[in-house]
Amino acid sequence: MTGFYEAPPVDDRAIWDLWLSMHYFPAATAVQEAGVFEALESAPMGLDDLANKLSLNSKALGVIMSLVSSLGLVQRREGVWRLTPHARTYLLADTTYSWSPLFNVYKNGTPLHAELLSLLKTGKTPRQDKPSDGWEEGKVPPDAARSIAKFMHAHSLPAAVAAARSGAFDGVKKLLDVGGGSGVFAIAAAQRNPSLTATIMDLDTMCDAARELFVASSGVEDRVNTLAVDMFREDWPAGYDALFFSNVFHDWDDEINAQLSKKSFDALPSGGRILLHEIIMSDNEDGPVTPASFSVLMLRGTKGKQYTLRELTNFLESAGFTGVEAVQTSPYYSIISAKKP
Ligand SMILES: C[S@@+](CC[C@H](N)C(=O)[O-])C[C@H]1O[C@@H](n2cnc3c(N)ncnc32)[C@H](O)[C@@H]1O
Repeated sequence: MTGFYEAPPVDDRAIWDLWLSMHYFPAATAVQEAGVFEALESAPMGLDDLANKLSLNSKALGVIMSLVSSLGLVQRREGVWRLTPHARTYLLADTTYSWSPLFNVYKNGTPLHAELLSLLKTGKTPRQDKPSDGWEEGKVPPDAARSIAKFMHAHSLPAAVAAARSGAFDGVKKLLDVGGGSGVFAIAAAQRNPSLTATIMDLDTMCDAARELFVASSGVEDRVNTLAVDMFREDWPAGYDALFFSNVFHDWDDEINAQLSKKSFDALPSGGRILLHEIIMSDNEDGPVTPASFSVLMLRGTKGKQYTLRELTNFLESAGFTGVEAVQTSPYYSIISAKKP
């Protein structure tokens, strides 16, 4: 990928929808096998009561229920989950119109059914290759770093171009792209804003991959550099007027996001800004369907999930940031910005 990042001729919504359709059927069959539909048959229930009744992991259940809800099988009203007429008619085991015999045959056709069921029952994925384990240890082997950089670049390029064109970086002179990955946001921001310089801060192997694969041929290599910092173990650099995080908060739990917010606050000067580029869940945590499925992907591979605007706002305000604002920048992404007073 070389040269200036032009806006793509069409947006990437259909590709996101296609990619994340992979969780639809397994999410439904996993909650069905876990007993959720039968448990909600007689009475609606809050998430924790439902998790307790079925001995399920509450976080995993919440994330997967959001997807199942956006598929039209359950509904969340005033914080309480209930069955929809579709689930009541077709997905209980012993009803006239039950599809259970068919679901029971097809659910084992995908390994995702067993993985989501394991997450529901234990909160853990049976996968050995969970990306956030290496990130938490601050170690990503060079080959894996190159592969992640290419993967993340493909996934983030249209959103990065849209973010750069959104005006979110207007007035920013020195941008620190924390967990910058392939560097696609820093590069797009620098290409769009000739007076902006940017630093991609990431683990050393990711920095090498970003530089070699993407920065070197970006045409803005004089204004975009890399800085190898383990964000959990090492000091963060000062002197930046904006800190940008794309797809970073969704990798981590409340405790780590509180730490990241606090470290950002301490690293910024008064008047400095924090920018979070994330796919936001609806306030009611019941969709939309592609964000809800992305949240299942985070559940499978990280310590995080997709957050609501309220949850992201809480992370920032608890660290001392004020004036939180959210602007949608591409079909699924928004930038949530706030200021250090
Ligand atoms: C999901 S990727 C996001 C990449 C990029 N911001 C994007 O949206 O395309 C998360 C990034 O956080 C980085 N990261 C994870 N743990 C880190 C750590 N301990 N220190 C610095 N960066 C880390 C990863 O290497 C990875 O590039």
